[in-house]
Amino acid sequence: MSLPRVTELAHLLVERCLKPGGRAIDATVGNGHDTLFLARLVGPGGRVDGFDLQAAAIERTRMKTSELPQVHLHTLGHERIGELVAGPVDAVMFNLGYLPSGDKSVITLPSSTLPALETAANLLGGGGILTTVVYPGHEGGAEEAAAVVRWFQNLARDCYRVVHFGPLRASPAEHDSPFLLAAWREG
Ligand SMILES: C[S@@+](CC[C@H](N)C(=O)[O-])C[C@H]1O[C@@H](n2cnc3c(N)ncnc32)[C@H](O)[C@@H]1O
Repeated sequence: MSLPRVTELAHLLVERCLKPGGRAIDATVGNGHDTLFLARLVGPGGRVDGFDLQAAAIERTRMKTSELPQVHLHTLGHERIGELVAGPVDAVMFNLGYLPSGDKSVITLPSSTLPALETAANLLGGGGILTTVVYPGHEGGAEEAAAVVRWFQNLARDCYRVVHFGPLRASPAEHDSPFLLAAWREG
């Protein structure tokens, strides 16, 4: 038996909240795995808005989703989600860090990640979920991870339930391992 990766865990959690006809946001489109996953869940009657700063990421994802009319891709930072999407939405996924097989110098940064998380949390409808996969292991990753953990810790507990999945962080290697934070908005 192998443990599920945190990206798989994020999918398991989102699956419980997102149904055909639902609305979702992929805040970090990257190679499009999460966008495609969300698009399959909502089906042609739903809608997925995907955001990424990098044209290369949007282009790769467009190739994967070109036959899915429910997918709307934006070459735009997630800090601007609120300009294009009105709530309520059922699920928002963040997968931080850099684009795998892409430009590793373009990373998510707390200065834009935190405002984007704030907007995302406010867009969630009752029963909706916000997931964030965090990578502390690359340069700048530990600082972003600490800021994101603090942000989730400060979410109002009368409105959101918050969970943290990851290794126990008992060894140096575990400090670098990715982890998942998720928040449900109370119905
Ligand atoms: C780890 S990758 C995402 C992987 C993706 N979810 C997938 O399924 O393949 C992180 C992505 O965040 C993007 N990114 C960095 N800063 C961003 C920002 N301010 N707004 C939106 N995307 C950003 C990067 O360009 C990169 O493609």
